[in-house]
Amino acid sequence: MDAVLELRHVHAGYEDRPVLEDVSLVIPRHRVVGLVGESGSGKSTLARVAAGLLAPASGQVLLDGRPLSGRRDKAACRKIQMVFQNPEGSLNPRRRVGRALEEAMVFHGAAARGEAREKCLRLMERMELPADALDRLPRAFSGGQKQRVALARALAVEPELLIADEATSALDVSVQLKMLDLIRALRAERSLTILFISHDLGVIRYVCDEVVVMRAGRILEAQPAGDFFLRPQTEYGRQLLDSVPRIDF
Ligand SMILES: Nc1ncnc2c1ncn2[C@@H]1O[C@H](COP(=O)(O)OP(=O)(O)O)[C@@H](O)[C@H]1O
Ligand SMILES: [Mg+2]
Repeated sequence: MDAVLELRHVHAGYEDRPVLEDVSLVIPRHRVVGLVGESGSGKSTLARVAAGLLAPASGQVLLDGRPLSGRRDKAACRKIQMVFQNPEGSLNPRRRVGRALEEAMVFHGAAARGEAREKCLRLMERMELPADALDRLPRAFSGGQKQRVALARALAVEPELLIADEATSALDVSVQLKMLDLIRALRAERSLTILFISHDLGVIRYVCDEVVVMRAGRILEAQPAGDFFLRPQTEYGRQLLDSVPRIDF
């Protein structure tokens, strides 16, 4: 199997607080892997390790089959992009969106300087953002638009892996649905590989091919989404499923 990212027996945490315990996980190319678990279970910590923002205490992280160690180089940084719950985290408040996207594209070699503007325009259009979006500052967008700008910023550099960490959790239901539909469409159009993190199994069911269940820093089960939603392998997986409110998108 062609894995974009693989974690092998990873232990990681903060100072004297261990969080991840022996976490092994494979993210196959062109698949959307859903990571679900209650708040505090370690999902964002796993995302930080995967993105190279937090070094594991032990274990290995492999990107395209090669171990990543220490500081990641520019190429590795481009390959993994994140979208957070709070879009402010990935947007500079003082920089116009167009400039931020163009610079990221050019810096990472996703576009030549002369073609970056045109590429940004097409991307904004695809994100169903207003035509003047490139000339605006981040604060001039609504919450849902801002999250689509953050997604555009992440996709602008053509990453191999997109990590969406509770990317739609702060949005109202209808705005969330629009963002989820966009992610589903883009995923198909661009053959994206996504680690999709949510505490909400309803959302996971809507977008993911595989489900990974995490609890207290450990992975309890991992299987294709169809199988998980039919028959979770663990008691905890069953409990999570039973507690899903019946909102069918
Ligand atoms: N920067 C940090 N410093 C210390 N502890 C942290 C930090 N971030 C998260 N934690 C702790 O690590 C555990 C896992 O948190 P997190 O990975 O954010 O879980 P989740 O994303 O599943 O809600 C929690 O107990 C949390 O309090
Ligand atoms: Mg989190």
